[in-house]
Amino acid sequence: MLLSPVAFGGFAEMLKRQLDEEITHVRLYYKLVGSLQLKQTPFRGQMTQLVNSLPSLTLKLFALQGLLEGLALGALRYRLAMIENSPSAPVDSRAMQEELAHTRFAFPHFRHLVQCEGAHTWDQFQMVSRLSAQVFEGCFNGRRIADAYQKYFGVNDLDAKIIENSRAMTVSRRLLLRSIQASKSEFLQKYFAAAQASRPVYMC
Ligand SMILES: [Fe+2]
Repeated sequence: MLLSPVAFGGFAEMLKRQLDEEITHVRLYYKLVGSLQLKQTPFRGQMTQLVNSLPSLTLKLFALQGLLEGLALGALRYRLAMIENSPSAPVDSRAMQEELAHTRFAFPHFRHLVQCEGAHTWDQFQMVSRLSAQVFEGCFNGRRIADAYQKYFGVNDLDAKIIENSRAMTVSRRLLLRSIQASKSEFLQKYFAAAQASRPVYMC
């Protein structure tokens, strides 16, 4: 994204700042998980492919800051609420504060995006929402969790249906959906307000 012609001035600074913060998060969690990290998960591959396939920076930012950051916030809320004496609680709290800011990082730059890329339509954003939801639902479910435990930890007797119907899954889904919905709505509300107030001049 930083290599895009749209990425200059304050907008590029915003992307760099977020990148720096995400790198810090990766380092903090790396220290916690050590050798237990999961490499090349289906989610990582599919989300990367989806974001790369989107035709504009506006839609990529929506997928990342509007939807994926919402998912991250929901996951952090779940961990903080459900795991007692979690060794990751201090890192989760810090990450949550920073992710809260990340869902709003693009707001001051929406006019810049409209000027460079034109105003996007509601349908375009809805298409990205649908594709992201397919990735989220396909990667975070009882079957995938049971498969991951088998693949990475050699646990063979987990029942996907029991995981799917568990309280943990119900709470996690509720928190994820609520967080994604909130960050998505706020993103779109600010975007369309900025789009109404500015005209594309395609200066980039
Ligand atoms: Fe983030």
